[in-house]
Amino acid sequence: MVFLCDMLITIKNTKQYFDQYIAAPYIQPLFIQGDAIEILSQLPSESIDCCMTSPPYWAKRLYSMKGIGLEENYKEYIGNLAKIFLQLKRVLKNSGSFWLNIGDTYNSKKLLGIPWRLAFELTDRQGWILRNDVIWNKVKGGLDNTKDRLGNTHEYIFHFVKQEKAYYYDADAIRSEPGKSILRNGAVISATGVSGVRYRRQIELSTALSEEEKRNAYQALEELLNEIREGKLSDFRMIIRKQQRTTHSDSVKVSGRAKELEQKGFYFLRYHPNGSKPRDVWDIMPEDTQKRKKHYAPYPEDLCKIPILATCPKDGVVIDPFSGTGTTMLTAMRFNRKSVGIDISEEYIEIASKRCSYLF
Ligand SMILES: C[S@@+](CC[C@H](N)C(=O)[O-])C[C@H]1O[C@@H](n2cnc3c(N)ncnc32)[C@H](O)[C@@H]1O
Repeated sequence: MVFLCDMLITIKNTKQYFDQYIAAPYIQPLFIQGDAIEILSQLPSESIDCCMTSPPYWAKRLYSMKGIGLEENYKEYIGNLAKIFLQLKRVLKNSGSFWLNIGDTYNSKKLLGIPWRLAFELTDRQGWILRNDVIWNKVKGGLDNTKDRLGNTHEYIFHFVKQEKAYYYDADAIRSEPGKSILRNGAVISATGVSGVRYRRQIELSTALSEEEKRNAYQALEELLNEIREGKLSDFRMIIRKQQRTTHSDSVKVSGRAKELEQKGFYFLRYHPNGSKPRDVWDIMPEDTQKRKKHYAPYPEDLCKIPILATCPKDGVVIDPFSGTGTTMLTAMRFNRKSVGIDISEEYIEIASKRCSYLF
């Protein structure tokens, strides 16, 4: 069964419908009800730009009695997921990205390490390249009655690619707004208040720099302040020999910066003019499921934002083979991308397609 938002069409040929959807001039998601592996195996190779998904946990599922997560043991669960992700790899373009949100499970008091076991299965046996392991810090924990271990508030989001280089990645699309420099009494002051006064003084009083090194340091500092004035740089830090704590190994064998410090007596840390890149710990509150009538487990839209903006081109297509209530599709729509949602549950497909149709 295929849903296009509030349209329900029963078809036998998934590929034909997918092709029509890709060629069509709209971004409303395409929802396909069925088993992820069966549906994926009908889609054309190298046709999708980005996958963001969160499969069911192993042995915790209450919300549906079909599909992944009901296996007898976790090895079978990992095996079943791996089969689906091998199909996904075929369907993903070579420039594509796969973002996998997955939580762990305790079994007889033992934390199983499922996320990493699955990640290694995908890298070691299927050749995926792991680019990031993001910690999703849920900030507040759920109800936890255990008395002999810490409460759990995190899950993983793994970012996999198919090739080491030339995968699509738009770092500028996910940078935070850079701070603005200001001019005060004719002097430029960076976004975080660096004016160069303190560095000039440190250079002047330094006993670890030669006279020539001091002259070069002054000149380089002025050039950098000019770049800030011209808006080419938003901020910087200066590291001067024997003044600042270095942010690298002191060994010149392992660090280019240590070498620079040894040879020139200083170096700069330059902040990107377009703002800073997000780090790999994301503080995002989970969706509030308390008030919902039915039990389902949507993830927050914010979790999909970076994956879609950074790794799906503007005219690209996002897929979620475990689309549930359609959060990935909803986020893709907000950012003007086409998307395909697959779920084994007819009920979720209906919820998801209704949810997305409200955006119009
Ligand atoms: C954790 S939920 C996904 C929630 C989703 N991210 C959201 O925001 O609503 C996992 C989904 O996988 C679906 N599922 C389980 N086994 C499946 C399979 N073999 N093929 C497709 N979907 C499956 C479940 O029905 C459920 O909706």
